[in-house]
Amino acid sequence: MQSPLPDSAIELLEKARQATSLVVWLTGAGISAESGVPTFRGPEGFWTVGSRNFHPMELATRAAFDSLPDEVWAWYLYRRAACRAASPNPAHRALADLETRLGDRFRLVTQNVDGLHLRAGNSLERTWQIHGNLDFARCSGSCPTLPWPMPATISIDWKKGQALDETTRDLLRCECGAAARPHVLWFDEYYDEENFRFESSLTAVEQAALLIVVGTSGATNLPMRMAHLARARGVPLLVIDPEPNPFSELTAGGGGVFLRGTASALVPEVCGLLN
Ligand code: OAD
Repeated sequence: MQSPLPDSAIELLEKARQATSLVVWLTGAGISAESGVPTFRGPEGFWTVGSRNFHPMELATRAAFDSLPDEVWAWYLYRRAACRAASPNPAHRALADLETRLGDRFRLVTQNVDGLHLRAGNSLERTWQIHGNLDFARCSGSCPTLPWPMPATISIDWKKGQALDETTRDLLRCECGAAARPHVLWFDEYYDEENFRFESSLTAVEQAALLIVVGTSGATNLPMRMAHLARARGVPLLVIDPEPNPFSELTAGGGGVFLRGTASALVPEVCGLLN
């Protein structure tokens, strides 16, 4: 059956399919939009859904956590509930299926903290969550304990404005005794390799046959660095988004192909040509 994709995309994907090097995917909030998880900068974005009298951007900081740990935890437990109420969509499922076929030629770098890629079946080893994951906690101190899944006994039905109770507070502790914190990248913190695979994400692009960017507006640092590095190294870009954005601009002049459309319509088609 004739693919609905343009010949330029089909040619790009055929070259990548025949290559032996990595196919790197970079996803943002747009891939989860059709699962009902609000994008960040869209009209319904999380940042416009405040938690009582705080603007969300003020809560997503280490400074806020240090001064108001209970309020920050309650907000993250509310966001975790919203993400757990969502389900992986056809785009997430197509990526999980593609990883089973490409194996170690597959890498998925995601900005999304909603955990939907892992729930769709992508592996933790090849899914680099460069902004963390709401379903994981880590030590708020400096002990070497790796991030761990949130205790299953903490409700995934946390209501908006629901305060942290003593029982939940006691569960949010590191094994070293320090308080636990959400395993997410805060606005007053920086990418690193240990928690967010900073260097690995850039190295993967350098070795890639193709970088496929889905549903991200280009407002964050590491994703844009990856795309510019791809351009500098002659790694073609395939960009999927309903709207033009800084990534789609990088496909001009032979840099790659921009597929204007939604993730659930286009990602399964693209994956099908990479088998
Ligand atoms: P944004 O909300 O900034 O951008 C969402 C992108 O998805 C836009 O380019 C939309 O056009 C696109 N989009 C919307 N619906 C789509 C659909 N159905 N299919 C495909 N694309 C669609 O989200 P991000 O670029 O991911 O960072 O930026 C989010 C990051 O910025 C977060 O990870 C957070 C925030 O600062 C940190 O928390 C560190």
